[in-house]
Amino acid sequence: MAYEGAGLPIAVLSASMPLQIVLSLRALGYETHVFQPSEVALIEGGPCALVIVDAEGLDAPPLMRGLRGFCRHESTPLLLVASGKAPAQRREALEAGASDMIERPLDPLELQVRARNLIDLGLARRESQRAASLLRMRMAEVEAAARERERETIHRLMLAAEFRDDQAADHLTRVAGCSIAIAEGLGLSEDEANDIALASTMHDIGKISVPDRVLLKAGPLDAEEQEEIRQHTVRGHMMLAGSSSQLLQLAAQIALSHHERWDGKGYPHRLAGEAIPMAGRIVAVADVFDALVSERAYKKGWPLEKARDHLIANAGSHFDPVCVDAFLSRWEDVVLLMRERPSTYKAA
Ligand SMILES: [Fe+2]
Ligand SMILES: [Fe+2]
Repeated sequence: MAYEGAGLPIAVLSASMPLQIVLSLRALGYETHVFQPSEVALIEGGPCALVIVDAEGLDAPPLMRGLRGFCRHESTPLLLVASGKAPAQRREALEAGASDMIERPLDPLELQVRARNLIDLGLARRESQRAASLLRMRMAEVEAAARERERETIHRLMLAAEFRDDQAADHLTRVAGCSIAIAEGLGLSEDEANDIALASTMHDIGKISVPDRVLLKAGPLDAEEQEEIRQHTVRGHMMLAGSSSQLLQLAAQIALSHHERWDGKGYPHRLAGEAIPMAGRIVAVADVFDALVSERAYKKGWPLEKARDHLIANAGSHFDPVCVDAFLSRWEDVVLLMRERPSTYKAA
C-alpha cells in the first residue's frame, strides 16, 4: 500500500550506519537517508516526513533542540532511538522536542508501526495547518470584498446626496480630508482615521429628506424651516442605523451627532462634552470649517485664516478644544487640501 508520506524522505541522524533502521523503513517504501551529526544542516535544509535521532554515540538533546528550533522542522515528527539503560538521557531528549521514543534493542515491526503513526500524524498536522492558512486567506478575501461593497454603498449614497445639492460632493470630500487630519492629529490609527473620514461623507445624508423649498432656499429660514433642516440629523441616523457594518454604524453615529456642541447647546439631543461621540466632535469641526470657507448662494466663502480663527474662538464652547488643537496641528495639510479642492459653487 502506498503512503502519502512516501513523497517525503525519512532522515536518520546517527553516528554509525544503522542498517536495521534503514532496512526496516525502506521495506515500508520510504526513501530513507542517513546523516552524520556533522551533516545536521542537510536535514535542516529540506522537508522530511520523519526525523529519527539515533542517540547511540550522540549527544542527542542539543541536536534535537537545534532541529526543533528550525522553522521547517517545527512540526516534523522526531523519533528518538535510545537505550533503555539511560533513562536520564532519554528524558532530556524527550524534553528537547522528541515526539516519541523507541528503545534498543529494536523490534523492526515496532519501529515500522511507530514511524508510520508519526508520519501520519505529521501529515495530518501539516494538512490542518494548510487548511487553516487557506481559511485565513479566504477570510481576508471575504473581508476585503465586504469592505469594497461598503465603500461602493457609501459612494452611491454620496451620489444620491449630490443630486439634491451640487455642492455636496466637494463639501463631502473636503470634510473627509479635514476629518482625517483631525483624527490623525488626535493620534488615532490610520485605519480609524480612514473609517471616520469615509463615514463622515454621509453626515448630511438625512438632507435628502428635506424638501427643496427649504434645502435650496436662498434667504433666511423661519423657525419651522430651521426645525425641518435640523431633522436631517435624526433622519440620517434612521437611514444608516441598524446595519451590521461597523462603518455604517459609525456613519449613523456621525449623522446623529455632528451638530451637537461641546457646551450642550447643539442639536438634536443637546449632548455636551465627551457625551458626544468622538467621531461626531471631529466631524463637527471639519464640517463647520468647510461651511465657512465655502461660497453659497447667500454668502461669500471666508478666507481660510478667518475660518481658523473662528474655530479657535469657539473651542470649548461650540467645539471640543482637543479636536480644534488637533486640527491646528495639521494646518499645513488642511491648506493644501483646500487648495487642491476649492469650493466650486456656481449660482444656478
Ligand atoms: Fe449637517
Ligand atoms: Fe455638512
